Amino acid sequence: NPVPPFDLVIFGAGGDLALRKLFPALAQRNQEGVLPEESRVLAIVRKAEDVEGLPNQIATRLKEEGLAPEQIAAFLRRLTMVLLDALKPETYASLKKALGKSERVRSFYLSTPPDLFIPICENLAKADILTPTSRVILEKPLGRDLASAREINDAVGRILPESRTYRIDHYLGKETVQNLLVLRFANTLFERSWSSRDIDNVQITVAETVGLESRAGYYDKSGHMRDMVQNHLMQLLCLFAIEPPNMLEAGAVRDEKIKVLKALRPIVGPDVQRYTVRGQYGPGQIDGQRVRGYTDELGRASNTETFVAVRCEVDNWRWAGVPIYLRTGKRMAQRYSEIAVTFKPVPHSIFGGTSACDRLDANRLVIRLQPNDGLQLQLMMKVPGSGRLKIVPRQLDLRYETAFNERTPDAYERLLTDVIRGDQTLFMHRDEVEQAWAWVDPIISGWQEYAPHPQRYAAGTWGPSHAVGLIEREGRSWADPD
Ligand code: BG6
Repeated sequence: NPVPPFDLVIFGAGGDLALRKLFPALAQRNQEGVLPEESRVLAIVRKAEDVEGLPNQIATRLKEEGLAPEQIAAFLRRLTMVLLDALKPETYASLKKALGKSERVRSFYLSTPPDLFIPICENLAKADILTPTSRVILEKPLGRDLASAREINDAVGRILPESRTYRIDHYLGKETVQNLLVLRFANTLFERSWSSRDIDNVQITVAETVGLESRAGYYDKSGHMRDMVQNHLMQLLCLFAIEPPNMLEAGAVRDEKIKVLKALRPIVGPDVQRYTVRGQYGPGQIDGQRVRGYTDELGRASNTETFVAVRCEVDNWRWAGVPIYLRTGKRMAQRYSEIAVTFKPVPHSIFGGTSACDRLDANRLVIRLQPNDGLQLQLMMKVPGSGRLKIVPRQLDLRYETAFNERTPDAYERLLTDVIRGDQTLFMHRDEVEQAWAWVDPIISGWQEYAPHPQRYAAGTWGPSHAVGLIEREGRSWADPD
């Protein structure tokens, strides 16, 4: 269904995210007829040469995405280039002029570093560009700690109400992440066993093979905890662990997520050393290619972490005693993200002494986010045959690509149209962001004292040996992909 007519203003339009994700997502939606004819995308650039240059770059990018020339042209017709310096209020007149007197809903996507969020919102207000229906979209990272996140939320909140502030975490737009709620709350089978009664442990892994890419300036200052854990992994954890909201509605879902974050047991002081591991990749091999270590890529020494593992616990009635292990890193052996749920073993084996199998493996449900999105459920099965009873683990395997004919949209396609429709369900409330920082901050500061130097791991492996120790000392092991 088409969205209501809109004007979408993108700050940071020449940046990596806009080119890689935002323009392709919008062009895709345009191609599918979701963007009404009169809607416009206004791209803010700071340099005069980008006014000419950026549309060409966008066209090249859309071509790479496989869009036909007429589709690319149709998208470029919607594009208005606006020259403006975000920090100079006097330059906002150009945007005001470009927007004109249109009645369309205005959304402002701040695809910029967080230190520009406050000045941009203030300058938009000063220039009288915001209307009573205008929305602002804030890209992550939202600050670099609780104090800076609060400062941003307070300042933006003085200009736009929470109901028109959209804090994006693109993981919430991924199909498989949205399916988490459906899996739990539309299937009796899972919801009934979704607690410490039946679950032994949960592992959330987000592994990437890419390294620093061209983001040294941002990434080295942030580190992996701020870049991935504070947002993506904690959002996955929340959706995994929430209590059933009474309906699928922004307020209800967000309230439940906040409760999970509040129930996360703090990791402070010496516990930081016990329950967390920070690593940094050295040289190694990925897909048969030699790759450089982090500091070689960076060109200088650095103690920034590119890998994090954490053992956490949600202290509430449902989850007491169930360890939730988080693990995420750059330059790991394989790109894959999943939530692996290991159930408790059966209370008694009737097969003991029959030599049918060495042991009964516990059931394991793997929710695979990417690649090969889908679900796998490991069950114990009898090997067919009339001879001696033999029992082995086998998988029920449901893949999105074979189970559905529909194309899986990119997360940003979904999220951008949700903003235009005014649906905040898949966006973060300020309390979620702040609560997540409140949990992450003591770990980051604890590292100064307890883990000032990250553990080395070779690129192309599953992280430092300490991460293996973190889980193996509890008699468990990481569920690496087959
Ligand atoms: C971004 C991080 O938010 O997510 C990047 O800043 C990371 O460092 C990316 O590479 C991963 O996203 P995806 O969708 O490729 O898993």
